[in-house]
Amino acid sequence: MMIFDTHAHYDDEAFDGDRELLLEKMAEKGIGRIVNIGADLDSTKQSAALAEKYDFIYAAAGVHPSDTDHMTEADMDCLRSTARCDKVVAIGEIGLDYHYPDIDKASQKKWFQRQLALAEEMKLPVVIHSRDAAQDTLAIMQENHAERIGGVIHCFSYGWEMAKIYLDMGFYLGIGGVLTFKNAKKLKEVVQRAPIDRLVLETDAPYLAPEPFRGKRNESPYLSYVAEALAQLKGLPVESVVQITAENAEKLYRLEHMPNE
Ligand code: NI
Repeated sequence: MMIFDTHAHYDDEAFDGDRELLLEKMAEKGIGRIVNIGADLDSTKQSAALAEKYDFIYAAAGVHPSDTDHMTEADMDCLRSTARCDKVVAIGEIGLDYHYPDIDKASQKKWFQRQLALAEEMKLPVVIHSRDAAQDTLAIMQENHAERIGGVIHCFSYGWEMAKIYLDMGFYLGIGGVLTFKNAKKLKEVVQRAPIDRLVLETDAPYLAPEPFRGKRNESPYLSYVAEALAQLKGLPVESVVQITAENAEKLYRLEHMPNE
């Protein structure tokens, strides 16, 4: 049974010391496929390069809201040409992040909208990052008919009411290490109420490692702990959770079905 990690950042410098070693061992550690997510232009290019190098890695092209301040039209062109590569399966991560003070909300909104439009133009799903910006994210997605684009709300962190709206728009919810945290009451409720066929597993590696590795560098094999927590909440065998979430991920990223041995 192979796990599909729908969101990781193996281009991150946290992996500079052992990236190849780690990636070469994914299959034997139960990881079937990984989508490496772009956070800026540089990491988008590195994601595409990783996807070219490794069969089981795919890439997403996008600029994270924390990095849109100095974005230019030339950057959009660069994203567009990277998005044309065969193994680029999504636009992301894109969205809004109001967590830190002194952020430029107008610029975040502008480039979120532009990248949503790029996804629609390229007929690719989106990977949405939304933190402390629930209402504005939803408003922009509704205005831009995100239901026609589809995708995943990565590291879903809002309540059931918001989850329901995104599920009704056809979106998947990305579930990661936070689910294993003791204080994750809200997320546990969302997971209990959401249909299992709309949940996907994600690490956000190197961030958000699950218990018992909380605070350490995250790696895709740790997803077994998230799958275990999900299985318990859903009252399903962990093998079913791994298989169903992998099939969901294939649908989300519009990949061919890979028989899960
Ligand atoms: Ni991420």
